Amino acid sequence: MPHFSMTEMKQDLLYQYNLINLSINRNLTKMKTLKKVLLIILGILVIVVAGFYIYVQLSWDKEFDSPYPDITATYDSVMIARGKYLAYGPAHCAECHIPMDKLDELRQGKDIPLSGGWELPIPPGIFRAPNLTPDPETGIGNLTDGQIARALRYSVNHRNRLIVPFMPFQDISDQDLSAIISFLRSQEPVKNEVKPTEFSFLGKAMIAFGLLKPKGPSKIPPKSVAIDTTVSYGEYLANSVGNCLFCHTKVSEQTGALLGPHFAGGGKFPADHFTKGYSFISPNLTPDKETGILALWDEKFFLERFHGGRLHEGSPMPWELFSRMTDTDLKALYRYFMSLEPVGNKIEKTVFEPGEELPD
Ligand code: HEC
Ligand code: HEC
Repeated sequence: MPHFSMTEMKQDLLYQYNLINLSINRNLTKMKTLKKVLLIILGILVIVVAGFYIYVQLSWDKEFDSPYPDITATYDSVMIARGKYLAYGPAHCAECHIPMDKLDELRQGKDIPLSGGWELPIPPGIFRAPNLTPDPETGIGNLTDGQIARALRYSVNHRNRLIVPFMPFQDISDQDLSAIISFLRSQEPVKNEVKPTEFSFLGKAMIAFGLLKPKGPSKIPPKSVAIDTTVSYGEYLANSVGNCLFCHTKVSEQTGALLGPHFAGGGKFPADHFTKGYSFISPNLTPDKETGILALWDEKFFLERFHGGRLHEGSPMPWELFSRMTDTDLKALYRYFMSLEPVGNKIEKTVFEPGEELPD
């Protein structure tokens, strides 16, 4: 049995004690550094989040200085009639700018005044279509022709703020723009206070970082267009007036940018309050023999189909207003679609029952 003297044992204990102490101390300093690092990371995160929040709050409410188009309203009855035709027909302003409890009457053929009312609650905000009658307090009575024209051509409202481009009229002709404003001014004023659009934090962030911005014309808009049955007038109606392009093309669900080949269908409309629970996918309007619906339709059938109006409850397509279109306009549209490059894009189904999932 080895023999230890008392001093040796003491020394040994002391040595071990020091070792333990050293390692505890080391661990303590390690933990302190870890805590420090975590605190710094947390601090940076708080600064980044607060900075992001403050940046968005300070910069979302941007003013835009798009030019006022040189467009004026007239009292010319032919121009007013043209404006009214557009608003209750191909340009379907009435589908959004009336109180929603009047939608059924509008769809039965009544000319409900455009006193505002459509409301769309989506993640970027609650969008509300304003009163377009000449009431000075709640309508467009105090807006200039230039302000109204700029709203439609440059998506900038009378307060110089962006209008989210739900309205596809940036390339509409000077003459049609003047006709529309002439008609708006000719209506009886209706007092109807519509609350302004409200952006959510997401919407504000999208504006602050330039993901949502006003949309201007894609080319110099025509002064006027000839109203006839030509492909070129059909092109104008489908792209600059009727919004056929936006609805009948696949679009990005994040930004609303057009993705798919134009008019080849695939636009998605998930179930909501307006669609009465149904969901829809728009059909391919290019003249592809296998996958385009129009390849099987002759011009006569196309006209009958449009005059017949809605077949599917809840379809987002403004069928009733489009059914008011003249044969000239419908023929021009048909001839334009027939002139397009055929695109093979099979849309299996366009109408989905409530509860049915839209395919990816
Ligand atoms: C799909 C629905 C829809 C259609 C169709 C539509 N609008 Fe709008 N409109 C809106 C919404 C929503 C707003 C408000 C947008 C916002 O606040 O960002 C608006 C805003 C406006 C403004 C802005 C007024 C201002 O505050 O300065 C004018 C003018 C206008 N619309 C006129 C028209 C005319 C004219 C037509 C038809 C040629 C039309 N709209 C078709 C939904 C629509
Ligand atoms: C707001 C979106 C929207 C707009 C605007 C729109 N469509 Fe549609 N369209 C649809 C949807 C969704 C369907 C499928 C449901 C249905 O048949 O109503 C459809 C269906 C159709 C059909 C097939 C109808 C049938 O009986 O099979 C034709 C043809 C058509 N659209 C042409 C047009 C033309 C031409 C325009 C422009 C003048 C237009 N659409 C504007 C969404 C739209």
